Amino acid sequence: MNVQVVSDKQAGGRAGFKVFEQALAKGAKVLGLATGSTPVTIYEQLVASNLDFSQLTSVNLDEYVGLNADHPQSYHYFMQQHLFNAKPFAKSYVPDGTNADAAAETKRYDDIIKENPIDLQLLGLGQNGHIGFNEPGTDPESTTHKVALTESTIAANARFFDNADEVPRFAYSMGVGSILQAKQILIVAYGEAKAAAVAAMVQGPITPDVPASYLQTHPNVTVILDEAAASQL
Ligand code: GLP
Repeated sequence: MNVQVVSDKQAGGRAGFKVFEQALAKGAKVLGLATGSTPVTIYEQLVASNLDFSQLTSVNLDEYVGLNADHPQSYHYFMQQHLFNAKPFAKSYVPDGTNADAAAETKRYDDIIKENPIDLQLLGLGQNGHIGFNEPGTDPESTTHKVALTESTIAANARFFDNADEVPRFAYSMGVGSILQAKQILIVAYGEAKAAAVAAMVQGPITPDVPASYLQTHPNVTVILDEAAASQL
Protein backbone atom coordinates (compact mmCIF):
# COMPACT_ATOMS: atom_id res chain seq x y z
CA MET A 1 0.00 0.00 0.00
CA ASN A 2 1.23 3.44 -0.89
CA VAL A 3 0.42 5.55 2.19
CA GLN A 4 0.45 9.36 1.91
CA VAL A 5 -0.03 11.53 5.00
CA VAL A 6 -1.31 15.04 4.33
CA SER A 7 -1.96 18.01 6.59
CA ASP A 8 -5.75 18.19 6.27
CA LYS A 9 -8.83 17.43 4.15
CA GLN A 10 -8.04 20.18 1.69
CA ALA A 11 -4.57 18.77 1.03
CA GLY A 12 -6.18 15.32 0.85
CA GLY A 13 -8.54 16.65 -1.81
CA ARG A 14 -5.60 17.86 -3.88
CA ALA A 15 -3.67 14.60 -3.41
CA GLY A 16 -6.75 12.54 -4.30
CA PHE A 17 -7.38 14.72 -7.33
CA LYS A 18 -3.89 13.91 -8.61
CA VAL A 19 -4.62 10.18 -8.40
CA PHE A 20 -7.73 10.72 -10.53
CA GLU A 21 -5.87 12.95 -12.97
CA GLN A 22 -3.12 10.36 -13.45
CA ALA A 23 -5.61 7.52 -13.88
CA LEU A 24 -7.46 9.50 -16.55
CA ALA A 25 -4.19 10.35 -18.29
CA LYS A 26 -3.47 6.60 -18.43
CA GLY A 27 -6.83 5.99 -20.09
CA ALA A 28 -9.20 5.13 -17.22
CA LYS A 29 -12.75 4.87 -18.56
CA VAL A 30 -14.74 3.67 -15.55
CA LEU A 31 -14.53 5.38 -12.17
CA GLY A 32 -15.85 3.74 -9.03
CA LEU A 33 -17.20 6.46 -6.75
CA ALA A 34 -18.02 6.74 -3.07
CA THR A 35 -20.15 8.88 -0.75
CA GLY A 36 -19.76 10.07 2.84
CA SER A 37 -18.01 13.23 4.02
CA THR A 38 -14.50 12.01 3.14
CA PRO A 39 -14.63 12.23 -0.68
CA VAL A 40 -16.12 15.73 -0.67
CA THR A 41 -12.85 17.65 -1.02
CA ILE A 42 -11.76 15.39 -3.89
CA TYR A 43 -15.08 16.07 -5.64
CA GLU A 44 -14.55 19.81 -5.09
CA GLN A 45 -11.22 19.53 -6.87
CA LEU A 46 -12.73 17.48 -9.70
CA VAL A 47 -15.54 20.02 -10.13
CA ALA A 48 -13.08 22.94 -10.19
CA SER A 49 -10.83 21.22 -12.73
CA ASN A 50 -11.04 21.11 -16.48
CA LEU A 51 -11.27 17.31 -16.49
CA ASP A 52 -14.02 16.06 -18.76
CA PHE A 53 -16.08 13.02 -17.73
CA SER A 54 -18.59 13.18 -20.56
CA GLN A 55 -17.14 10.10 -22.25
CA LEU A 56 -16.65 8.15 -19.00
CA THR A 57 -18.76 5.84 -16.87
CA SER A 58 -19.18 6.01 -13.10
CA VAL A 59 -20.25 3.17 -10.83
CA ASN A 60 -21.09 3.96 -7.21
CA LEU A 61 -20.42 1.66 -4.32
CA ASP A 62 -23.67 1.60 -2.44
CA GLU A 63 -27.12 3.02 -1.71
CA TYR A 64 -29.57 2.90 1.18
CA VAL A 65 -32.51 0.54 0.67
CA GLY A 66 -35.78 2.45 0.73
CA LEU A 67 -34.55 5.91 -0.28
CA ASN A 68 -35.42 7.18 -3.72
CA ALA A 69 -33.04 9.21 -5.86
CA ASP A 70 -34.64 12.52 -4.76
CA HIS A 71 -34.25 11.88 -1.04
CA PRO A 72 -31.66 14.36 0.25
CA GLN A 73 -29.82 11.59 2.14
CA SER A 74 -29.81 9.13 -0.73
CA TYR A 75 -26.44 8.48 -2.33
CA HIS A 76 -27.99 9.26 -5.74
CA TYR A 77 -28.78 12.75 -4.48
CA PHE A 78 -25.34 13.15 -2.88
CA MET A 79 -23.62 12.32 -6.14
CA GLN A 80 -25.80 14.76 -8.10
CA GLN A 81 -25.01 17.56 -5.67
CA HIS A 82 -21.30 16.93 -5.24
CA LEU A 83 -20.27 15.85 -8.72
CA PHE A 84 -22.74 14.88 -11.43
CA ASN A 85 -24.59 18.20 -11.78
CA ALA A 86 -21.29 19.95 -12.49
CA LYS A 87 -19.51 17.06 -14.21
CA PRO A 88 -21.90 14.73 -15.97
CA PHE A 89 -20.67 11.30 -17.04
CA ALA A 90 -21.81 9.49 -20.20
CA LYS A 91 -23.41 6.97 -17.86
CA SER A 92 -23.65 6.90 -14.05
CA TYR A 93 -24.75 3.87 -12.08
CA VAL A 94 -25.85 3.79 -8.44
CA PRO A 95 -27.71 0.82 -6.87
CA ASP A 96 -31.48 1.36 -6.94
CA GLY A 97 -32.59 1.63 -3.31
CA THR A 98 -36.25 1.59 -4.36
CA ASN A 99 -36.01 -1.89 -5.84
CA ALA A 100 -37.47 -4.09 -3.09
CA ASP A 101 -36.38 -7.24 -4.97
CA ALA A 102 -32.88 -7.64 -3.52
CA ALA A 103 -31.97 -10.65 -5.67
CA ALA A 104 -32.89 -8.80 -8.86
CA GLU A 105 -31.19 -5.56 -7.87
CA THR A 106 -27.93 -7.14 -6.74
CA LYS A 107 -27.78 -9.27 -9.93
CA ARG A 108 -28.50 -6.19 -12.07
CA TYR A 109 -25.68 -4.32 -10.35
CA ASP A 110 -23.19 -7.18 -10.65
CA ASP A 111 -23.93 -7.31 -14.38
CA ILE A 112 -23.26 -3.57 -14.62
CA ILE A 113 -19.88 -4.01 -12.89
CA LYS A 114 -19.02 -6.94 -15.16
CA GLU A 115 -19.81 -4.86 -18.26
CA ASN A 116 -17.95 -1.83 -16.87
CA PRO A 117 -14.79 -3.06 -15.13
CA ILE A 118 -13.64 -0.35 -12.74
CA ASP A 119 -10.31 1.32 -13.47
CA LEU A 120 -10.09 3.41 -10.30
CA GLN A 121 -12.21 2.83 -7.20
CA LEU A 122 -12.46 5.59 -4.59
CA LEU A 123 -13.27 4.47 -1.03
CA GLY A 124 -13.92 6.01 2.36
CA LEU A 125 -13.40 3.99 5.52
CA GLY A 126 -15.95 3.23 8.22
CA GLN A 127 -14.93 3.60 11.86
CA ASN A 128 -15.36 -0.17 12.19
CA GLY A 129 -13.20 -0.86 9.14
CA HIS A 130 -16.03 -1.13 6.63
CA ILE A 131 -15.64 -0.24 2.97
CA GLY A 132 -18.75 0.55 0.97
CA PHE A 133 -21.27 -0.91 3.37
CA ASN A 134 -19.31 -4.13 3.86
CA GLU A 135 -19.57 -4.50 7.59
CA PRO A 136 -17.24 -6.66 9.73
CA GLY A 137 -17.84 -10.32 8.97
CA THR A 138 -18.52 -9.81 5.25
CA ASP A 139 -17.28 -12.59 2.98
CA PRO A 140 -14.13 -11.28 1.24
CA GLU A 141 -15.35 -12.80 -2.03
CA SER A 142 -18.76 -11.14 -1.80
CA THR A 143 -20.33 -9.44 -4.79
CA THR A 144 -23.18 -6.92 -4.61
CA HIS A 145 -25.48 -7.79 -1.73
CA LYS A 146 -28.11 -6.46 0.65
CA VAL A 147 -26.56 -5.45 3.96
CA ALA A 148 -28.07 -5.00 7.41
CA LEU A 149 -26.25 -1.95 8.79
CA THR A 150 -24.57 -2.33 12.17
CA GLU A 151 -25.59 -0.18 15.12
CA SER A 152 -22.23 1.64 14.95
CA THR A 153 -22.76 2.55 11.28
CA ILE A 154 -26.33 3.68 11.96
CA ALA A 155 -25.05 5.84 14.83
CA ALA A 156 -22.17 7.25 12.72
CA ASN A 157 -24.52 8.13 9.85
CA ALA A 158 -27.30 9.53 12.05
CA ARG A 159 -25.66 12.98 11.85
CA PHE A 160 -26.97 13.24 8.28
CA PHE A 161 -30.58 12.53 9.32
CA ASP A 162 -32.95 14.27 11.78
CA ASN A 163 -32.45 11.36 14.19
CA ALA A 164 -31.12 7.79 14.28
CA ASP A 165 -34.63 6.34 13.74
CA GLU A 166 -34.65 7.79 10.24
CA VAL A 167 -31.42 6.11 9.14
CA PRO A 168 -32.31 3.21 6.84
CA ARG A 169 -31.46 -0.20 8.32
CA PHE A 170 -30.41 -1.80 5.04
CA ALA A 171 -28.29 -0.92 2.04
CA TYR A 172 -27.23 -2.41 -1.26
CA SER A 173 -23.45 -2.50 -1.50
CA MET A 174 -20.81 -3.77 -3.86
CA GLY A 175 -19.05 -6.62 -2.08
CA VAL A 176 -15.46 -6.80 -0.88
CA GLY A 177 -14.80 -9.11 -3.84
CA SER A 178 -16.32 -6.57 -6.27
CA ILE A 179 -14.14 -3.79 -4.84
CA LEU A 180 -10.97 -5.89 -5.10
CA GLN A 181 -11.65 -6.40 -8.83
CA ALA A 182 -10.93 -2.70 -9.50
CA LYS A 183 -7.59 -2.16 -11.23
CA GLN A 184 -6.60 0.61 -8.85
CA ILE A 185 -7.98 1.66 -5.45
CA LEU A 186 -7.78 4.99 -3.62
CA ILE A 187 -8.89 4.94 0.02
CA VAL A 188 -9.07 8.11 2.07
CA ALA A 189 -9.58 8.66 5.82
CA TYR A 190 -9.49 11.72 8.07
CA GLY A 191 -9.70 12.24 11.80
CA GLU A 192 -8.94 10.54 15.08
CA ALA A 193 -12.12 8.43 14.93
CA LYS A 194 -10.68 6.53 11.96
CA ALA A 195 -7.18 5.96 13.44
CA ALA A 196 -7.81 2.46 14.82
CA ALA A 197 -9.52 1.32 11.60
CA VAL A 198 -6.63 2.75 9.56
CA ALA A 199 -4.03 0.86 11.63
CA ALA A 200 -6.04 -2.37 11.34
CA MET A 201 -6.42 -1.86 7.58
CA VAL A 202 -2.73 -1.16 6.91
CA GLN A 203 -0.91 -3.20 9.55
CA GLY A 204 -3.38 -5.61 11.07
CA PRO A 205 -4.05 -9.20 10.08
CA ILE A 206 -6.16 -9.75 6.98
CA THR A 207 -9.47 -10.70 8.51
CA PRO A 208 -13.21 -10.46 7.81
CA ASP A 209 -13.40 -8.55 11.12
CA VAL A 210 -11.83 -5.62 9.25
CA PRO A 211 -13.14 -5.65 5.66
CA ALA A 212 -10.62 -2.93 4.66
CA SER A 213 -7.73 -5.25 5.64
CA TYR A 214 -8.36 -7.15 2.38
CA LEU A 215 -6.97 -4.12 0.55
CA GLN A 216 -3.54 -5.45 1.62
CA THR A 217 -4.08 -8.22 -0.95
CA HIS A 218 -4.54 -5.74 -3.83
CA PRO A 219 -1.50 -4.74 -5.92
CA ASN A 220 -2.35 -1.07 -6.50
CA VAL A 221 -3.75 0.78 -3.47
CA THR A 222 -3.11 4.39 -2.51
CA VAL A 223 -4.07 5.47 1.02
CA ILE A 224 -4.46 9.17 1.80
CA LEU A 225 -4.66 10.10 5.50
CA ASP A 226 -4.47 13.20 7.61
CA GLU A 227 -2.17 13.11 10.64
CA ALA A 228 -4.97 12.22 13.07
CA ALA A 229 -6.09 9.25 10.96
CA ALA A 230 -2.44 8.13 10.65
CA SER A 231 -1.75 8.54 14.38
CA GLN A 232 -1.85 4.81 15.24
CA LEU A 233 0.44 3.70 12.40
C1 GLP B 1 -20.76 5.26 5.03
C2 GLP B 1 -20.51 4.84 3.59
C3 GLP B 1 -19.08 4.52 3.33
C4 GLP B 1 -18.22 5.61 3.91
C5 GLP B 1 -18.36 5.67 5.40
C6 GLP B 1 -17.52 6.75 6.06
O1 GLP B 1 -21.13 4.23 5.86
N1 GLP B 1 -21.32 3.73 3.15
O2 GLP B 1 -18.87 4.36 1.94
O3 GLP B 1 -16.87 5.38 3.58
O4 GLP B 1 -19.72 5.93 5.70
O5 GLP B 1 -18.14 7.98 5.96
P1 GLP B 1 -17.45 9.38 6.19
O6 GLP B 1 -16.58 9.59 5.00
O7 GLP B 1 -18.55 10.37 6.26
O8 GLP B 1 -16.66 9.26 7.44
